[in-house]
Amino acid sequence: MPALWADIVACIVALALYLHIRRVRSYRHLPPGPRKLPFIGNLLDIPTSLEWEVYARWGKEFNSPLLHLDVGGSTLIVINSAKIAIDLLEKRSSIYSDRPDFPMLVDLMGYGWMMSAMHYGEPWKERRRLLQRHFHPSNADVHESKEVEFTHKFLVRLLDSPERFLGHIRHMAGGVTLSLAFGLDIDPDDDPYVKLAAEAVGTLTEAAIPGAFFVDVFPFLKYMPSSLPGAGFQKKAQVWRKQMETFHEEPFAAALRKIASGTAEPSFTSLCMDVISEAKNPEQQMSAVKDTAGMFYAAGADTTVSSIDTFFIAMVYYPEVQLAAQRELDAIVGRSRLPDFTDRPHLPYVTALMKEILRWQPVTPQGVPRRVMEDDIYENYQFPAGTVFIPNAWAMLHDEEEYPDSLTFKPERFLKDGKLNPEVRDPASLAFGFGRRACPGSHIAQSTMWLTFASILSTFDVTAAVDKNGAKILPQLFYKSSIVSHPLPFQCTIKPRSSIAERVIRDTLMTH
Ligand code: HEM
Repeated sequence: MPALWADIVACIVALALYLHIRRVRSYRHLPPGPRKLPFIGNLLDIPTSLEWEVYARWGKEFNSPLLHLDVGGSTLIVINSAKIAIDLLEKRSSIYSDRPDFPMLVDLMGYGWMMSAMHYGEPWKERRRLLQRHFHPSNADVHESKEVEFTHKFLVRLLDSPERFLGHIRHMAGGVTLSLAFGLDIDPDDDPYVKLAAEAVGTLTEAAIPGAFFVDVFPFLKYMPSSLPGAGFQKKAQVWRKQMETFHEEPFAAALRKIASGTAEPSFTSLCMDVISEAKNPEQQMSAVKDTAGMFYAAGADTTVSSIDTFFIAMVYYPEVQLAAQRELDAIVGRSRLPDFTDRPHLPYVTALMKEILRWQPVTPQGVPRRVMEDDIYENYQFPAGTVFIPNAWAMLHDEEEYPDSLTFKPERFLKDGKLNPEVRDPASLAFGFGRRACPGSHIAQSTMWLTFASILSTFDVTAAVDKNGAKILPQLFYKSSIVSHPLPFQCTIKPRSSIAERVIRDTLMTH
């Protein structure tokens, strides 16, 4: 090798070594974690399934509620403890309210308009304000009547075709959010908007996991031509981007058409439109309304679906819980009508059951990632600006000290002397995130879940499906890797509790 080349190679090796040593030194101020390989760090350690359980197990192995992962040079911190999540993401919200870059999701798939993926700044604030103003928790009338209407339709569909319950759940959750966001009707079968949301949200929640795609670790790969070998992510992104465009444009355009023709029901979009014409910058306002309505639809439909799926699984596995809830409903509501929101304060067991659904199989088990905007010091650790945090909700909600026997589904853990026990931490305070970026739809999610569970328990029995030989088929307790995690498809048997229950359901629907 000519001397010049030998010098260049030696310089590169020396520089790489220097950078590696500098990186390893910086680990001293960070929490423990799995051993790092030179240059790629923990890239090969990042789990691709049940991440939340792997992170919880590592926490025990390293005897630390915080874990450090080096993903190709980026610092990733997993938070397994509720106290630390609150200390950082809530109490230091002014510097922990940013999101990381999402090269796959934002740059390649085009989801930069979604509030949940936006950096902390004015466009995010504008959209968040719009959402909070319209769907303020103190204004339950805005969403409860739609939840009642769609829950009643859902019960009828369960009577008519119980074997298609998974589709009915998606139809119900999609219907509530579609009508609240856009004032659109929904087709009884195979509604195109519900299908669109399921497809688009499925891909975007997959792409939002930190490190799920190599391009998130090495952002320069986003310039890689899709024709090159190894650029499969580019092809995926192109297809998913088309889905995104339809999802972003079509429901909003349909809502505007309805508003223009004077046939629109009041919705987030129609109410915002009323004030846009008076705004100083109507075009900017218009795109903020479109983004926020789309965000509401994306965030609301898929998450609620997962929690209702989990409800059916829990009822199959824990018949004694189902019976206890039915006894409470029979005593308070009786059998001649359906439960409604006025019953909520008198049904603590049903409320405890809903809390246990949020805790047992959290919908967003690994939270939604955050990024710290400035250097920060916490206990003995130093986090450089740009560090990404994964709030591991699953680990927090399975903390044996707070929730003993945490893998068992036990609504009783939230009760004392027949009332909700305020001394047990409400899982909602962890399952919906923290501080300024906490879920702005948590009250809507909880009221939809509560009414759905109370209505089903009051009128149906849910049991295991059986095969040809009469043997039970139990659902698998396996949740897919995604920001919004779903169980694998499963079967169960859903039968009305009595002919009276069936009549009550059909009669109630006539009132809509
Ligand atoms: C069981 C149902 C739901 C769960 C478990 C859930 C959970 C979450 C979590 C963990 C976050 C991230 C919070 C953080 O970074 O700390 C979030 C964000 C968000 N959620 Fe929900 N959510 C649910 C339902 C809903 C519904 C019904 C809506 C509709 C209104 C909604 C709208 C949003 C929005 C807009 C964000 C982004 C907030 C931001 O980045 O500022 N979610 N949700």
